[in-house]
Amino acid sequence: MTRMPEALVPDGRTHVLWRGHRMVYFGGCDYFRMASHPATRRAASTAARRYGLSVGASRLTTGNLPILLELESALARFLRAPRALVVASGAMANLALAESLVGRFSHVLIDERAHPTLRDAVERLGARVLAFRHRDAEAVQSRARRLPVGARCLLATDGVFPLDGAIAPLAAYRKGLPRDAILWVDDCHGAGTLGATGAGTAAFWKLPQRALLRTATLSKALGSFGGVILGSKACVDGVLQRSRTFASTTPPPPPSVAAAIAAIRLLEADPGLRKRLHDRVNHVRGMLAKAGLVACSVESPDGIAPIVGVVPRSVAEQKRLRSRLLARRIYPSFIRYPGGPETGLFRFGISSEHTPAQIESLLWALIEPRTNSAVSR
Ligand SMILES: Cc1ncc(COP(=O)(O)O)c(C=O)c1O
Repeated sequence: MTRMPEALVPDGRTHVLWRGHRMVYFGGCDYFRMASHPATRRAASTAARRYGLSVGASRLTTGNLPILLELESALARFLRAPRALVVASGAMANLALAESLVGRFSHVLIDERAHPTLRDAVERLGARVLAFRHRDAEAVQSRARRLPVGARCLLATDGVFPLDGAIAPLAAYRKGLPRDAILWVDDCHGAGTLGATGAGTAAFWKLPQRALLRTATLSKALGSFGGVILGSKACVDGVLQRSRTFASTTPPPPPSVAAAIAAIRLLEADPGLRKRLHDRVNHVRGMLAKAGLVACSVESPDGIAPIVGVVPRSVAEQKRLRSRLLARRIYPSFIRYPGGPETGLFRFGISSEHTPAQIESLLWALIEPRTNSAVSR
C-alpha cells in the first residue's frame, strides 16, 4: 500500500528539516533553487499583493492576466519557441496539447519509459500507440520503416528522463523518422538546464523548430508552479480551439506566474548559474564514472542533466546507503515513482546552489566504501 511520506520542511536553499534534524537536501528538481531565491520570493509577494492569490477563472472566460502574457513572451524567448501557452501544470500541458491533436495522427511512437502524464496524454489521441525501447534510435527507425504508406506519425518522449537524467537522442530520432513526422518532447527536466542558453533538450541537439512540439513545467528549473506548451502559432491556436481542459481550468496563481518571470530573468541575466550547475554535475558524474559507478555518456558540457539515480540491488544495500547518507547529514531521498523500479531508488538532484563541500559529502556517501550499486548512467 502506498503511504504518504513524512513531511519535510525546507530550511534555507539546500537543507530540509527532517524529524527535527537539519539535513542537506538533494531531493526534488529545483535545479537552481529558484523557489527560495530572494528575487523570486519578492516577485511572488508583490504579485500576491497586487493580484491576489488566484484569478478564480479560466483564461478563456475572465481569468487572463497581463502577467500571464508577459510570462508567455518570456518563456518563448528563453526556451526559443515561436509561441508559448501557460497552463496550470506540466501534466496539464501534456493533456491539453493531446486534446488539441485528437485525430491528427494515425501512429504514435513513444519511449517505453516516457513520463506517465505523457503516456496518458498520447492515449487520448485516437492513434495506434507503439512503445519503443528506451532511448533506442534504431528501434525508432525500424518501427518507422514498418509504418503503412500514408501513416501520420508522432514520436513522443521525455527530453530528459526524471529518474536518471538520461537524455533522449532527439537528433537520431529525427533522422530515423519520416520527414513529415512530428516530435513531441516533454522537456520538464531539460527546459532551463540543457542547451547553451538553457533552451532545453531540442536546443542541446540543435534541432530546428519545424515539426517540434514541446511541453514543460514551471516547477523545476524555474522553481515555481505551472506548465507551458511550446510550439507554433497554429499549435497554440489548436489548444485554444480544441482543449476542453484548457478552456475549463484556472491558470497558475499570480504569485507563481510572477516568480517564474523573475526566475527567467535571473537565468537569462546570469549564465554563470548554468555553468555552476554543469560544473557540479560534471564533477559528480566524473567521480562516479571513475569509481565505476556511472557511465558518463553525454556528449558535450552543456548536455549533462542534473540527476543521478542509484538503484540498490537489495534491501540490505538500500539500508547501508541510507545509513551512510544519514551519517553525513544528507537526507536519504529514496523514492518510488510511477514507471521507475518497483523497489524504489535513491534520486539525487544536483543544484547550482549546493556547495562544493555538500557535493563532496554526497560523493563520499555514494562511493566509499564502494557500493556495487547499479548507479544508472
Ligand atoms: C517528465 C515530466 N513530465 C511532466 C511532469 C508533470 O509536471 P507538473 O508537476 O508541473 O504537473 C513531470 C513532473 O514531475 C515530469 O517529471
